[in-house]
Amino acid sequence: MAAKKNTRFDLQKMKEADQTIVWITAYDYWTANFAEQAGMDMILVGDSLGMCIYGYSGTVPVTMDQCICHSDAVRHGAPNTFIIGDMPFLSYQVSVEEAVRNAGRFHKEAGVDAVKLEGGVRVCPQIQAISDGGMLVMGHIGLTPQSSGQLGGFKAQGRTAKAARDVIADALAIEKAGAFALLVEAVPPEVCGIIREKLAIPVYGIGAGWETDGQLMICSDVLGIFQAFTPKFVKKYENLAEKTINAFRQYAEDVRSGQFPKEEHAYKMVEGELPKLKHLLDESE
Ligand code: KIV
Repeated sequence: MAAKKNTRFDLQKMKEADQTIVWITAYDYWTANFAEQAGMDMILVGDSLGMCIYGYSGTVPVTMDQCICHSDAVRHGAPNTFIIGDMPFLSYQVSVEEAVRNAGRFHKEAGVDAVKLEGGVRVCPQIQAISDGGMLVMGHIGLTPQSSGQLGGFKAQGRTAKAARDVIADALAIEKAGAFALLVEAVPPEVCGIIREKLAIPVYGIGAGWETDGQLMICSDVLGIFQAFTPKFVKKYENLAEKTINAFRQYAEDVRSGQFPKEEHAYKMVEGELPKLKHLLDESE
């Protein structure tokens, strides 16, 4: 179990000491608790919960209330881990005021340590306002799933010189706006390496190669639960989908064949009480 919750200064020091951090998403109490026991440096309550928990085809339908509810569960499961709440679609795009209010809700109602929002130069006013509101905010650039319609799908970004230059410009603007860290998703390792060199704040990656200050993965991918598709950058460490289906099948088989429940799963009546019960029942007939 993490001895003490990381602060932004610990995360900054780890970057400066070239100590790669590891983080993972979680959406519920148990996963968060296991992540904390496994020694994760941070947890993201991603809006990927739309796909991983609710079975949506993307993250756009996810609401603030859903994110708050899941962040609250995660906070209870991982009281000693730095937790980031992911701002869902339309919780920050409409105005700077809404962005600050919703970032504040994450802190007041779910006890997160920071929030994350997607986008580059165009969300810098929101990043600055949230930061001016006394909260920690992380940027997220490259593949930004909430704007996958504009990007033409869940596609890698920054693969040409011009596109990479734009991603780098976004990174620089986000740091200047006051973000405490940056997440880069689905860009070539070389591009992430350049960003990491140019920025003083930690630069974390998901599908952005190894030249990062830390790696993020989606818990449902690591555990082999998410079955709809597998992005190129995913490494599965388990096949819990198969294991879960097998366990459920075995349970159903045992009940249907009379193998469960057995003596050892049943509560015993207090010695001598059964004859008394029969007598009481006879009397009342
Ligand atoms: O919602 C999420 O889990 C994310 C990751 C895909 C980076 O934002």
